[in-house]
Amino acid sequence: MLFGIIHLFFWRIFKSLLRIWTRKCEIQRICENNRSDIYQECVSLEASMCFSKSAPIRSLVSMSRFNNKSVDEHIAAMIVCKGIKDLSFQERFRDRISLIIHYNSLIREVTELKKSYSTENTTHEATLLSLWDCLKPNEKLKERRSKQWSDLGFQGLDPATDFRGMGYLALTQLYYLANTRTELARNLLLKSQHPEYGYPFALVGIHTTSFLSNLLTTRSLRYQLFILSERYQHTISMERFNELFVYVFVEFDKFWRESGPNNVMQFNERWRVFDSVITQNLNTINVLN
Ligand SMILES: *[C@@H]1O[C@H](CO)[C@@H](O)[C@H](O)[C@H]1NC(C)=O
Ligand SMILES: *[C@@H]1O[C@H](CO)[C@@H](O)[C@H](O)[C@H]1NC(C)=O
Ligand SMILES: *[C@@H]1O[C@H](CO)[C@@H](O)[C@H](O)[C@H]1NC(C)=O
Repeated sequence: MLFGIIHLFFWRIFKSLLRIWTRKCEIQRICENNRSDIYQECVSLEASMCFSKSAPIRSLVSMSRFNNKSVDEHIAAMIVCKGIKDLSFQERFRDRISLIIHYNSLIREVTELKKSYSTENTTHEATLLSLWDCLKPNEKLKERRSKQWSDLGFQGLDPATDFRGMGYLALTQLYYLANTRTELARNLLLKSQHPEYGYPFALVGIHTTSFLSNLLTTRSLRYQLFILSERYQHTISMERFNELFVYVFVEFDKFWRESGPNNVMQFNERWRVFDSVITQNLNTINVLN
């Protein structure tokens, strides 16, 4: 605690000296340091801005809805507040801060979708039935509550009870896989029914959503979502979050079979190993390339 205060005290003095010497504030310096990549720049900006003494800076970095006009207004307020004269950093800074706000916005959207699955909601119910149709085109679902759901790896008669804390988000991710990668999804489903190396397809999907959702909210998907942003017009979308779901699911399927499990009871133990491998990959290599 005391160390922290002393550390912060000297850090602030150091920053003031640097500011006097370079005539630039930390934000300008970060944006003009051409040696670092976009990920490093965004992470440095976030760290610097979250602990800033100035309210306009803190409110800019914590925006969770992207809006051109509002971002520009916040940046203008910051420039006035910091008394910045040299505006050459501004364009680059706007790109970086936009990415950070898009990331915040994705957290908000994902949190919204995690609200519980509701059998009263016609959108939720329609998506669930479409999931069935994508994965089982040659077999009709006889009724809404049915033993047939266990063929997709749900536990009971009604999948609604399996989504739990991941709510509708878990279904949207499974449906993304089934709808946009139909062949891949059917193939995975088939493999998940292997007599020796099988696993409950839908439950693994829900677990994968939970894993990714935790990484997203602890800001551990920044590497994946920032690094390639130039290719995506500096935005971060739900679609890329769903692509990460496809990646993790496919990797799990491979990992599970290669690890030669005795039975599905080993799931938790094997997932722990898988978790550390994948988390490492997500922080070091561009998995969506
Ligand atoms: C960084 O790059 C920009 C354009 O690529 C250039 O104008 C600027 O002078 C460079 N800054 C430094 C500190 O090298
Ligand atoms: C927001 O601003 C950027 C450039 O500053 C522009 O490319 C984009 O089209 C704008 N978007 C909207 C919705 O106005
Ligand atoms: C149904 O769920 C969707 C997606 O979660 C949501 O946008 C919509 O507002 C919900 N409809 C009702 C009537 O609650």
